[in-house]
Amino acid sequence: IKMTAVVPAAGVGKRMGSTIPKQYLPLGDKTVLEHTLMRLLSHPAIERVVVAVSPEDQWFGTLPLVSDPRIARAAGGRERADSVLNALTQVTSEQVLVHDAARPCLAMEDLDALLAAANQPQGAILASRVRDTMKRGDGCGAIAESVSRNELWHALTPQCFNTRELQRALSKALEQGLTITDEASAMELAGFHPLLVPGRADNIKITQPEDLALAGFFLQQLKENNS
Ligand code: CTP
Ligand code: MG
Repeated sequence: IKMTAVVPAAGVGKRMGSTIPKQYLPLGDKTVLEHTLMRLLSHPAIERVVVAVSPEDQWFGTLPLVSDPRIARAAGGRERADSVLNALTQVTSEQVLVHDAARPCLAMEDLDALLAAANQPQGAILASRVRDTMKRGDGCGAIAESVSRNELWHALTPQCFNTRELQRALSKALEQGLTITDEASAMELAGFHPLLVPGRADNIKITQPEDLALAGFFLQQLKENNS
């Protein structure tokens, strides 16, 4: 199969607290976003990447990679779901893969595993099992109860869905005013049960300042192991 990937990259990175959005911070020899895009494009099944970029963005246009004919730009929106929906208008492949700009440590074996599930009618996402004991808070700073971790997973990206079904699901979620932080949530609300594809725990989303050094370490490891 061949498909297009959508990369939402229009966030401001509030939790990162840096002056420039986290996807443009340097990580070794390139920016975070360049690592992310190069990882996706190095897979033979990914023929195009549509990047959702904020209309106020001053950085995307300066990356050498933007002259690559396989890369297209879409306007980012207020919420992540708006950004993804805008990018989807430029997608013609039957299936689409959505991957966070802020996840530069994607291993090829994980991309392979997800793409192997791409024909799933319900869609599929990379996910990793939670490791710690999980507690539900009571809202006042104390434990209400322990939550069994047996069935708990971290939702990672990429996530892969039928393009038109995802478009419908995201539009519906936005119309209902629901906040969607991943594509699978929208699909779940539409009645789908996407497959959980076990992925590596080092596929982290750079969210807070300490994550940048971790991502640098993981990327180095991936390169040394050719993964
Ligand atoms: N994103 C986007 N459009 C938005 C919001 C987020 O394209 N309106 C993208 C981000 O650029 C990021 C991905 O969605 O690649 C995951 O979002 P998140 O980690 O929450 O990034 P930010 O929203 O930038 O960070 P924060 O929530 O800390 O502000
Ligand atoms: Mg956010």
